[in-house]
Amino acid sequence: MTELNDLYQEVVRDHYANPRNFGRIEEADRVSEGFNPFCGDIITLYLKLDDACIVDVAFEGVGCAISKASASLMTEGVMGKSQEDAEVLFDAVHRMFTGEEANGGRDDIDLGDIDFLAGVAAFPVRVKCATLCWHTLRAALNGSEETVTTE
Ligand code: FES
Repeated sequence: MTELNDLYQEVVRDHYANPRNFGRIEEADRVSEGFNPFCGDIITLYLKLDDACIVDVAFEGVGCAISKASASLMTEGVMGKSQEDAEVLFDAVHRMFTGEEANGGRDDIDLGDIDFLAGVAAFPVRVKCATLCWHTLRAALNGSEETVTTE
């Protein structure tokens, strides 16, 4: 458990210090904003789509270590995926953070490094930090222009 905890801390620290796909996409097809009123953190997510496939994704904003690390891991996770597969990943990640079970028990979706954030589920306040970017992603996939909030 300590080893897993160390690994979790290392992954979060790395993605916070060196966030992947951090920045803006000038000619994005979708742009969504997410806001956590609890702390004032904000994220802007950019998607470039081609034939229902996410060909580029980027984010910018201000956030705590978990929200930034989660967004960084998310961009790696959905890059190159179809919109449909990104939705499937969203559902699996949401189940992981909320502790819900997949149909029949264990989830068989491969979360890759996103799995390192599983421990966040034990801390309800931090779940909002970790899920902000994911809800913002879903809004972008749905073409919603409303700001997503964690409330
Ligand atoms: Fe603001 Fe985590 S404390 S998103």
